[in-house]
Amino acid sequence: MVSVKFYGNEAVPLEMHKVRIVQKLNLPPVERRLEKMSAAGNNTFLLQNADVFLDMLTDSGVNAMSDQQQAAMLVADDSYAGSATYTRLENKLREIFGMRYFLPTHQGRACEHILAKVLVTPGSVVPMNYHFTTTKAHITLMGGSVEELVTDAGLEVVSAEPFKGNMDIAKLRAVIRQRGAANIAFVRMESGTNLIGGQPFSLQNLADVSAVCRDTGVLLVLDASLLADNLYFNKVREDACKDLSIREIARATADLCDVIYFSARKLGCARGGGICIRDEAIYHKMRPLVPLYEGFLTYGGMSVREMEVLTVGLEETMDEDMINQGPQFIAYMVEQLLERGVPVITPAGGLGCHINAKEFVDHIPQEQYPAGALASALYIASGIRGMERGTLSEQREPDGREVFANMELVRLALPRRVFTLSQVKYAVDRIAWLYDNRKLIGGLKFVEEPEVLRFFYGLLKPVSDWQDRLVAKFRADFGDSL
Ligand code: F0G
Repeated sequence: MVSVKFYGNEAVPLEMHKVRIVQKLNLPPVERRLEKMSAAGNNTFLLQNADVFLDMLTDSGVNAMSDQQQAAMLVADDSYAGSATYTRLENKLREIFGMRYFLPTHQGRACEHILAKVLVTPGSVVPMNYHFTTTKAHITLMGGSVEELVTDAGLEVVSAEPFKGNMDIAKLRAVIRQRGAANIAFVRMESGTNLIGGQPFSLQNLADVSAVCRDTGVLLVLDASLLADNLYFNKVREDACKDLSIREIARATADLCDVIYFSARKLGCARGGGICIRDEAIYHKMRPLVPLYEGFLTYGGMSVREMEVLTVGLEETMDEDMINQGPQFIAYMVEQLLERGVPVITPAGGLGCHINAKEFVDHIPQEQYPAGALASALYIASGIRGMERGTLSEQREPDGREVFANMELVRLALPRRVFTLSQVKYAVDRIAWLYDNRKLIGGLKFVEEPEVLRFFYGLLKPVSDWQDRLVAKFRADFGDSL
């Protein structure tokens, strides 16, 4: 896993970069953290970043840029139409993915909006390895539905399976047979499958999915937002990829797909997004929506600076020493937490470290949002902002019934190249303390529940005074420490 061995035999993820710009952090005392969490309705999305010590909410749009990316911003060619910056981006995408057409968008969900508008019809189905929140919302908004076909191993929290993002091929065939190929809007594979813990699929599995799609004439769409992590895991965990370069694996991946879309807030440590398309007819169907919803075809809602950053970032994604940093830090954090008995998703994936709240706070029933409660408790205990990825992040059935998530996770994202090892150690230390005091944590209930994507701005409160008791225990154990 670690590419540089230490004489002392300790497995340490070694940074292959140095830090040249820093941002000062603030760690408010625990009483203030409780105040801030209450004011944010126990929803970590509603905290102010100024009150957060380590922001592990997401890896989206907060990855550290390289010096080359910063430099590229200065040569951005500012023009509404026909910008040279845009041409550089389009050429880079063609070079890497080998697809002829590209449509720029302002971020990943904008791609999903366009894909859903053009390809999803009422009653149609989108089989996928696993859903992502915004993806599913766009598909259901168009009257379609989602079928999750991840292999059973993908939903096992503790596992040694290297490719938990794999799709179950037999299930895919069965869905296409039952629903009829004409009712399948498209098949979607998500790299570095986000909601099950940043878990990759193997290149072989993608090839098998692709073969079924080609047999049945169904379109295969790749969500490449977390492609960098997936490529890294293909390289280090899949025998057939070990002698291929990252660039070769990326091309082999692309060659199996018809459409590739991505959030550049993740892919390429940039901002923005876009859709790469092989087929001219599909391109022509999607193209009119870009000027309508995003911006003219040579920027699609991105600034020219973002596009320059993305072009360089895509090239840097082809460098194993650049993309191995995230997964190696995550693996370190997962190992350290396991040593302390904390339940986490294994094997370590990309994106972040995922705490299994179902087990961590197994005394909190799912209707009291265990993962949301744990995310709230963690901020109070440490100033670390994680993200609930469980029942709160689901949407209710049309009849109002709660949909209990398969997994109740608190995701601690490690934005790429942002945190130091001592900061990761601090996170491990506070999580271990919280684990030893887990029985103090109680559930949450909604005070205000939005209908769509409720996790973004819903307000909740604790079901008892458990948060005050947690603060008191913190003071008793840590004295006047922050
Ligand atoms: N697809 C995947 C797999 C994602 O993880 C995301 C975003 C999107 C699509 C949407 O892209 O945010 O640019 O509109 N994930 C972020 C996260 C929000 O925090 O995991 P976007």
